[in-house]
Amino acid sequence: AAAGDDGARLPHRRFTSVGVVGSGTMARGIAEAVARAGVPVTLVARDETRASAAFDAVDRSLARAEKRGRISECERIAVLGCINATDDRAQLAGSDLLIEAVAEDTDVKHTVLRAMDAVAKPEAVLATVTSSLSVDGCARATNRPSRVLGLHFFNPAPAMRLVELVRTDDTDPDVLAAAHALTAELGKSAVECTDRTGFIVNALLFPFLNQAVRTLERTGLSVGDIDEAVTAGFRHPMGPFALLDSVGLDVSLAILRRLNESVPQPATVPAATLEKLVADGHLGRKTGTGFTLHAAPAPAAV
Ligand code: 3HC
Repeated sequence: AAAGDDGARLPHRRFTSVGVVGSGTMARGIAEAVARAGVPVTLVARDETRASAAFDAVDRSLARAEKRGRISECERIAVLGCINATDDRAQLAGSDLLIEAVAEDTDVKHTVLRAMDAVAKPEAVLATVTSSLSVDGCARATNRPSRVLGLHFFNPAPAMRLVELVRTDDTDPDVLAAAHALTAELGKSAVECTDRTGFIVNALLFPFLNQAVRTLERTGLSVGDIDEAVTAGFRHPMGPFALLDSVGLDVSLAILRRLNESVPQPATVPAATLEKLVADGHLGRKTGTGFTLHAAPAPAAV
């Protein structure tokens, strides 16, 4: 039977401890989602300040959940007890699964994955949370491509049920089976997909979001009316403009560009207004200005 790269293979692999590298929205959300399932998680940030900011953010998120009566005080404390936030990468050596959740940039991700590969135990699995870069490229940046997969969580990770499990031609079936088991433990739904730009969700979502911007440009309708039409008409939890602001206009533009590079088609040519907002520094929720937030300029003339 085919073994892993160096012969290391567990018959029934299970992830009993998880490492998360990064300290941004996705890293925090994934750490919270994993800890909520009672699985110990080590979050490794670039420095001590970022590590404690990430821990505090999870603490606040859990406090909100407790206030709403979703979890008890005991549960909140137990979940926090499952999280170790540090700037010491060496502490990842005990993790069965190490998840990279750093900036969506090929060089940054490859550098971080190589460092994770160096510290992880031989049988550990490495995952990337990339939403639009090549998982195969990430796998090949390491010395264990058969034990690398994509775990594409959605924002906010503790609340969103879906995880896309992205396999490459090299991904060991045991690794996928263990990833399915973990997502089930997290109470999430897993869908397997291949390493195609945008996987399933973003390949469908971003042409739609782009089309909403074009509709704004061509019709002169208001952002609020289009969002209301989609929330009330399709039962989406958020309208396209609220979602664009939430995802980040810079992130959305980068995803559209990558989708278009991969399969050139009119639907993924970024709408002019999106290009202009990003060029002018309006990035959505993170800057407080975007489509649904104040100071958003009028749509670009098309
Ligand atoms: N952190 C943790 N939990 C959160 C949260 C957060 N930031 N925001 C909401 N939640 C939880 C709440 O605690 C609650 O969970 P519970 O029922 O277990 O307590 C649940 O989410 C519902 O929250 P609320 O009732 O407060 O609020 P809403 O009903 O307005 O839901 C929402 C909030 C879940 C964010 C909802 O608006 C939604 O589903 N929005 C769409 C989000 C979406 O589409 N995300 C995908 C973006 S695309 C992406 O991520 C791909 C990437 O590659 C770009």
